[in-house]
Amino acid sequence: MSALTIGLLGFGTVGKGVYETISKHQGRLQAIFGKEVKVSAILVKNVSKHSVPDDDVLLTDDFQEIIELPKLDVVIDAIVGREPGYTYLRQAILRGCHVITANKEMFAFHGSELARLAKEHNVSLGFEATVGGGIPIIQTIKQLLNANKIERIEGILNGTSNFILTSMREENLSFEEALKIAQEKGYAEADPKNDIEGYDAFFKAVVLSELVFGKAPAQETSVREGITDITIEQIRMADSLGLKFKHVASIEREKDAIRCTVKPVLTAEAHPLYRVEGVQNAVSIDADIVGNISLQGPGAGMFPTASAIIEDLIHVGRTDIPSVFEEGKSEWTVLDEPVWIIW
Ligand code: NDP
Ligand code: HSE
Repeated sequence: MSALTIGLLGFGTVGKGVYETISKHQGRLQAIFGKEVKVSAILVKNVSKHSVPDDDVLLTDDFQEIIELPKLDVVIDAIVGREPGYTYLRQAILRGCHVITANKEMFAFHGSELARLAKEHNVSLGFEATVGGGIPIIQTIKQLLNANKIERIEGILNGTSNFILTSMREENLSFEEALKIAQEKGYAEADPKNDIEGYDAFFKAVVLSELVFGKAPAQETSVREGITDITIEQIRMADSLGLKFKHVASIEREKDAIRCTVKPVLTAEAHPLYRVEGVQNAVSIDADIVGNISLQGPGAGMFPTASAIIEDLIHVGRTDIPSVFEEGKSEWTVLDEPVWIIW
């Protein structure tokens, strides 16, 4: 019986989580696919750093060795940065492979081109892991795009920032101590500036905006601010008033454009995000027929992210990619707006 063969790009927090999940839940996957699900090859930057438990898995730093394998059904991208991820996934699609990515930075910039290419080549494109860690936000939104009109999305989209804010308030840790733990736990990006300066949440907001509204947020009105200016004194002062800082992303239609705001806000007890703590993410969707839907769950880490990728894997072979992606997007100007709002 032939196996479903996978080329896994990256063997860090996410890549290892995917590999272990496929091994551990092989029986479940075989029952779904009716055949073995096999990681045939793994791409890393530095081969000497790694070892793979199974001898028959190709471990390489050369993507060409993977793309030229005689049999390759799915390529999973868990590497870092816009390139070479985009080029590799393009090659994979052109070869006829289904592709799945966790790489939100790459996908925020190139999701539309990849979606178009995947459609042309009749392969599936999974990107559940690009937003919200283990929360099935992409599937939920796709489900809502059939009859509903989504008006607004708001939420906490970066686990590291929320973990730092919670740890500073609850554990009395310094910013640096809390960030170090987030890195040790595998929550933070390779360059944690992306987390703490709001770029990661902004990339996720771009993915949601394109999925929901068919276009990226307008550059002129969008705001991207991180949590680095929040001091322990401000957190204590807020606490004494019964308020908490939360790093909130919102995406909404404003006339014909989309406005995206990513910034810290002070929340009061009645605010839905007030009790979202630690690495948790939460997403609130307002749609015209259903009303409000809120989802909350682990926003980063090895197995929550692996879960999102494996759920995408289950959908391999489906090509119902929304046609709403806008093409030809370029770089955004990311604006600062140092205003805190009490909601
Ligand atoms: P890590 O830094 O832990 O691992 C990255 C892996 O990719 C490493 O194995 C590294 O190789 C490999 N790699 C990086 N660049 C290249 C390259 N140019 N060529 C070949 N291999 C490369 O990152 P994570 O696992 O945390 O994240 C992976 C991706 O998933 C990122 O895009 C991230 O944004 C995304 N993501 C991460 C989440 C998380 O919770 N950590 C959650 C959701 C998405 P080597 O080990 O040899 O250096
Ligand atoms: N660094 C990201 C976060 C990983 O902390 O949210 C999940 O996308």
